[in-house]
Amino acid sequence: MSSIEQTLSIIKPDAVERNLDKEIKQMFIKNGFTIFKEKKIQIEKSEAEKFYKVHETKPFYSDLCSYLSSGPIVAMILEKENAVIDNRKLMGATNPKDAEDGTIRKKYGISIDKNSVHGSDSVENAKKEIDFFFRD
Ligand code: CMP
Repeated sequence: MSSIEQTLSIIKPDAVERNLDKEIKQMFIKNGFTIFKEKKIQIEKSEAEKFYKVHETKPFYSDLCSYLSSGPIVAMILEKENAVIDNRKLMGATNPKDAEDGTIRKKYGISIDKNSVHGSDSVENAKKEIDFFFRD
């Protein structure tokens, strides 16, 4: 049995700043995703802290939240079968240096911080992250 799943994707400030959002969206579409909803916004650091709360004990937490709130981002709800896992495959490894050819982070990522995209890591977190950006 198969069913359509949703995941949350963010095109991060480094990619939006380089005007890569259209190209990255095309990669999602080419790989079978539908962009169900999207919005371009800039969030406050306090909001980024809520979004990345799971990482609050990590040494990189503060820099990560400053970075996500440093410029416009594009938040999207992506849909397809197995959207969560397929999006993680398409994004590639967190560190662009370790990402495989053909992945978004390999193609566009600059560093582990400026890795161009975020994607939910589980169906449960996808629901929370979608609610965070698209509650209203
Ligand atoms: P993302 O998938 O958005 O989830 C958390 C982010 O923290 C991650 O991408 C990276 O951009 C960032 N980050 C910075 N340093 C690290 C690290 N050492 N390990 C994992 N993620 C890191």
